[in-house]
Amino acid sequence: MLATYLTENKQRFLDELFDLIRIPSVSADSKFKDDVRRAAEFVRDRLSDAGLDNAELIDTAGHPIVFAQKIIDPSKPTVLVYGHYDVQPADPYELWDTPPFEPTIRNERIYARGACDDKGQFYMHIKALEAMLATGNLPCNVKVMIEGEEEVGSDHLGDFVTANRQKLAADVILISDTSIISNDVPSVESGLRGLSYVEVEVTGPNRDLHSGVYGGGVDNPINVLCQMIASLKDADGRITIPGFYDPVVDLTDAERAELAKAPFDLDEYKRDLGIGDVFGEAGFSTNERTSIRPTLDVNGIWGGYTGEGAKTVLPSKASAKISMRLVPNQTPDEITALFAAHFESIAPASVTVKVKPHHGGFPYVTPTDSIEFEAASRAFEEAWGKKPIPTRGGGSIPIVALFEKELGIKSILMGFGLDADALHSPNESYGLFNFYKGIETIPYFYKHYTALKTTGEAVDS
Ligand code: BES
Ligand code: MN
Ligand code: MN
Repeated sequence: MLATYLTENKQRFLDELFDLIRIPSVSADSKFKDDVRRAAEFVRDRLSDAGLDNAELIDTAGHPIVFAQKIIDPSKPTVLVYGHYDVQPADPYELWDTPPFEPTIRNERIYARGACDDKGQFYMHIKALEAMLATGNLPCNVKVMIEGEEEVGSDHLGDFVTANRQKLAADVILISDTSIISNDVPSVESGLRGLSYVEVEVTGPNRDLHSGVYGGGVDNPINVLCQMIASLKDADGRITIPGFYDPVVDLTDAERAELAKAPFDLDEYKRDLGIGDVFGEAGFSTNERTSIRPTLDVNGIWGGYTGEGAKTVLPSKASAKISMRLVPNQTPDEITALFAAHFESIAPASVTVKVKPHHGGFPYVTPTDSIEFEAASRAFEEAWGKKPIPTRGGGSIPIVALFEKELGIKSILMGFGLDADALHSPNESYGLFNFYKGIETIPYFYKHYTALKTTGEAVDS
């Protein structure tokens, strides 16, 4: 029996996840290149152990892609599982209570980089598939693709997808790389935001200057950059770039009312973040601001002297990294172009500016009345005893929109993380409850999806 198999192998599942987490597969930093590859090999070998066929490593110009499949009957539906084995850098290390690549359990949670994003989450799928195969409970075909460049924009996955339409052919894509509202209030995300990411450089004088000799007579690029950035949002939290909101699809009142059903405690939110008040676009709730509305945020800013002590210098240059989260129907190229044109237009004659685009991604939404969404909803209901609430997510998984465009396949975002898991931050964690509950929920998705897809009828829980 499936449930017995899960119980009997609980500890081994966790031990294996710990071995995976111990491999520091940081995709952004070339010093971890060999570790990234080792993580890929580990995933390939575990897919093979789980009983999948043709588990392989596919080299790209960047980090390798892992692929495996189990075709039980070509006439049955096929689920394509996607995830990423790469992780964000663990810096700053000194803010971790225990080392980021030595998983540690405290308060029933696994603390480590990648515990939730996305090692803990995609590994649930490998274990759920192992259990289904071992107990004769896999009702349809499955393909698994785990990549190593999600955290750096999936630069090489797009070409692979375009060149391998047949290999990746499937009926639905299943992804666990998002969050639920809470362990008491399960939810399924029906959308992701897109991303436009730029780096700007403001140059004033042709060299660093003595701030006494020249100060007062020459514009300071740091001051200028701060003013320019400050002007990108007005007092109502609206982004001032001309045309920025033009493509944005406004939700209907009914859709907004539906989303507003998700429980949210503003005081708790403020207390958790240690902030005196929230801030965002006037006329929208915090939940709306962080999901269905676009954003503009400085992610980093630098220039001048930041070392110990004081150095009197009027710097030649100042820079910043800026992200814009996008919603339907904004596109990364258009928004980047609007940003660049506006940023250049507001620069005073005392400086020159350069705008360098980084990676981007399209926003994604999926209807909540599809059989795929219904299957995810029923899976949660069966495992959690509660119907999940549909939500719109604020994060981005750039490849999801490309899957739809290139493969014509919709993705189901069946994530099990919590916002409190501190993704990308020090002390990232993942609840043991979520890890095990996820493994339990996934087979129900296969059951309900296969029934709905092949007979058009739902099966009982
Ligand atoms: N898993 C996250 C995205 C996410 C987190 C979606 C929580 C919904 C809820 C993913 O790994 C991620 O961090 N994506 C990046 C994309 C970027 C690096 C191109 C992001 O959103 O910043
Ligand atoms: Mn992720
Ligand atoms: Mn991430």
